[in-house]
Amino acid sequence: MLNIIICGAPGCGKGTQSDLIVEKYSLNHLSTGDLLRKEIEEKSELGLIADNYISKGNFVPDEMIIDILMKKIDSQSSNINGIILDGFPRTVSQAEALEDLLEKRNKKTTILVDLQVDEQELINRLLKRGETSGRSDDNLETIKKRLEIYQEKTKPVNNFYKKLGKYAAIDGMGSVNEIFERISAVIDSKLES
Ligand code: AP5
Ligand code: MG
Repeated sequence: MLNIIICGAPGCGKGTQSDLIVEKYSLNHLSTGDLLRKEIEEKSELGLIADNYISKGNFVPDEMIIDILMKKIDSQSSNINGIILDGFPRTVSQAEALEDLLEKRNKKTTILVDLQVDEQELINRLLKRGETSGRSDDNLETIKKRLEIYQEKTKPVNNFYKKLGKYAAIDGMGSVNEIFERISAVIDSKLES
């Protein structure tokens, strides 16, 4: 079973690459950002709370997102090839909760793939996406806030997985296909081992 975490700063290509990984390796895609945006669209109670955090570039509280993710993982069918987690975990306490949850279910994380992209390129990609995305967080002020919070809260997650020997840094600059080939090489090496 492949349980892959795709991580990296806002705009690094997590969603774009997840779509390709899902297709090639038949994994289930779990994006906490997408789940939250669906709640916002449906104007659910959860969505209303989440919107307040997301539009300002802040994270939603750990307990809230851990609860959403646990329910989602437990609702998956048991005969899947694995999952790709996109946008989770993004704090060390989320990583601890995830590893605890998987262990209790006799599962484990295969690898964390960290997509590394220059800051100016991230800003350019997100501003361009903002021209059509309608996302409340795709504007310069909120993008800068998201990048700051990434450095402060999400970067330490890399060290957490480095210590577990489950970390792969990937150059996230270049064309979508070039980056996908780099990621595929890492996943293939895990399938062989
Ligand atoms: P989330 O939706 O996860 O947003 P994010 O991390 O800011 O990342 P993005 O979705 O903006 O970018 P991406 O890396 O997916 O890149 P994409 O493929 O789209 O989270 C949103 C918010 O929800 C958070 O800020 C937080 O508030 C909340 N949240 C979510 N999870 C949470 C959690 N676990 N805990 C607490 N809060 C949570 O690519 C970006 C653009 O670039 C696209 O337009 C794409 O077409 C383009 N592009 C992609 N690859 C390339 C390339 N190689 N060359 C040129 N352009 C490219
Ligand atoms: Mg995304």
